[in-house]
Amino acid sequence: MTQRAGDAIAAEGVWSRAAASFAASEAAAELRQLSRPLVCAAVASTQDELRSLAREGAPSGTVIIAERQTQGRGRIGRSWQDSERPGASLAVSLLLDVPVRGAPLVPHAVGLGVLEAIDPLRETARLEQLGLKWPNDVVVVERSSSTPRKLAGTLVEREQVGGRDVLLVGLGLNVDRRDEEQPDDRTCLARTVGRDVDPALLLAHLLPALDAALDRLSTPVTLLDAYRERCVTIGRRIIIERPGAPTLVGVATGIDAHGRLEITTKDGTVPVLTGTVRDASPERGPERGGEELRS
Ligand code: BTN
Repeated sequence: MTQRAGDAIAAEGVWSRAAASFAASEAAAELRQLSRPLVCAAVASTQDELRSLAREGAPSGTVIIAERQTQGRGRIGRSWQDSERPGASLAVSLLLDVPVRGAPLVPHAVGLGVLEAIDPLRETARLEQLGLKWPNDVVVVERSSSTPRKLAGTLVEREQVGGRDVLLVGLGLNVDRRDEEQPDDRTCLARTVGRDVDPALLLAHLLPALDAALDRLSTPVTLLDAYRERCVTIGRRIIIERPGAPTLVGVATGIDAHGRLEITTKDGTVPVLTGTVRDASPERGPERGGEELRS
């Protein structure tokens, strides 16, 4: 069941209250691409909920947040686990008409928007580096380890709904997860910024930042320059698993004008549109050059 955020004050729930507070703010009135968020109770996936809204004619810019998501989906067929504790995870989906320009860069724009929302919440004394693991995982590289820990992930699904070509853009953000709730390669916002994060403050940063990031699709060159600056994958020796194509091992050397990751292997440089990146094991050594594995 969905309800307008502005009507949600009576509803119990961390995200209902946060959304109502945001809906009443000046920042909400200034959104250009996105609408004030709708909040639903427990759902399997906000992506499915948003698809139903799109079928009912919801406009581009519709935003839906779940108090609790029980069967979240991740990229490339993976699942996405939210915490059962209220407010510990944020599951949000955005409905967008496929933009005339820059559709392939939506994941990059959204990743950048999340980073730019979180940047001002950080204590400057904290040395962790916040960045983007290609294509759009928001990660933290902590001082104690060179392996990035994932803070947020984005799933972009393109579909025909009621004769419209739309994008369902889902964002999952770990807000306040306990270590035992998630694998070692994950982190959460509270740990990253060094204190509890007020959900209303988070939405007050996140929604305007996503709105501004979507505006940037009209200037892809500057969008990609900003993305490259924050992409922690560049320069790393990686393994990239590609759906329906051989796995590649090589050095990530750049991001091309279409947002594809460029991998330099011993056979040359290959642009990759879709895939899952892992760090290559150090014993392979950077000097060996790349190789193509058959998956
Ligand atoms: C990934 O890193 O693999 C992407 C994770 C995306 C999770 C979000 S949570 C909100 C939305 N609803 C879903 O079912 N998935 C996305």
